Amino acid sequence: MGELRGTHVPVLLERCLELLAPALGRGGRTVYVDATLGLAGHAEAMLEAHPETVLIGLDRDTEALAHARVRLARFADRVHLEHAVYDELPEVLDRLGYPGIDGILFDLGVSSLQLDAPDRGFAYAQDAPLDMRMDQTRGVTAEEVVNTYAHPDLARVLRVYGEEKFAGRIASAIIRERERARITSSARLAELVRDSIPAPARRTGGHPAKRTFQALRIEVNKELAALESALPSALDSLTVGGRMVVLSYHSLEDRLTKAALADRVRNKGPVDLPVELPGSGPTFRLLSRGAELAGEAEVAANPRAASVRLRAAERLDPNATQQGRTDRERSRRRVKAMHQPGTGSAGSVGDPGTPGDDRGTDVEGEGHEH
Ligand SMILES: C[S@@+](CC[C@H](N)C(=O)[O-])C[C@H]1O[C@@H](n2cnc3c(N)ncnc32)[C@H](O)[C@@H]1O
Repeated sequence: MGELRGTHVPVLLERCLELLAPALGRGGRTVYVDATLGLAGHAEAMLEAHPETVLIGLDRDTEALAHARVRLARFADRVHLEHAVYDELPEVLDRLGYPGIDGILFDLGVSSLQLDAPDRGFAYAQDAPLDMRMDQTRGVTAEEVVNTYAHPDLARVLRVYGEEKFAGRIASAIIRERERARITSSARLAELVRDSIPAPARRTGGHPAKRTFQALRIEVNKELAALESALPSALDSLTVGGRMVVLSYHSLEDRLTKAALADRVRNKGPVDLPVELPGSGPTFRLLSRGAELAGEAEVAANPRAASVRLRAAERLDPNATQQGRTDRERSRRRVKAMHQPGTGSAGSVGDPGTPGDDRGTDVEGEGHEH
């Protein structure tokens, strides 16, 4: 293992610690999963803050795991480091014998280790073989994608995953070039992209190859498919009171996260029933108001924080939820009855009832979407 390249500053670290503290610090040997361990910046801080907590750290990149192992050596008796894609979490938990977890963090995307590595091909600013696999032990490289995909597939990847306006033109340029000679280096690809974009567009929105490189990285690592299946299983693994935090860095990741959470915080029963059907209530509550951003000071100190979107949620106690709903329904019916003809005015019936204990039902309160 070489020297650690680049310096990695964990994004929104204080906020992640604050959000996960009630779940990890509730006593006993709580279980924390870092689904994207990377250089273990978040993980180290979490282990320091919670001396009883066990960490299960996943990463699909063996080099990241090797660095994390060194960094976390002093916590070795309560750390499991696993070479896995995060959608394999249920199998990992089964194998390690943990039926449930108390907290989980997803800090998506690439690490500075990967971006700064001269030989991995993630960065358009450095010349390297076009690899871009986070897991170099398996899978298809960016070189194979660029040299074998048909025009429509290439254009779709660039348009959808890179939100690239000039996807068609770039795909055509790639196809022309590869008929001449196989495209094998990141510098050649970056040059090709720059040359196929109209001159005025080259001057706006950062480096012209940025979106193409992002798109290829997402395609090579099948990032969105893995995230889409990982989020529901991560939510399912959380115990009551357990919390999940997700840091996304582009709109596609954030959209998947928002949808996975929205599915859990809404009531799934028929809307017109006077009482909630057992099991149809929300199973989670949101802890973030919409998507939280990093503050100006953090962005100034750490450019990676500029695009972060944080979302978080907590698993509800189904019994407390049901009780809360029932009490609230009872109270609502009492108030409604007071307003019906022949039952007296609102002020004359006396106490309309104490609103039910809404603990755990607060989808309308803290953290609802705006
Ligand atoms: C942004 S870094 C995480 C940095 C980390 N929070 C820290 O403080 O050092 C993202 C890491 O997640 C890993 N990763 C990305 N997608 C993954 C996936 N589907 N399964 C497992 N690991 C993944 C990458 O290899 C990378 O090391």
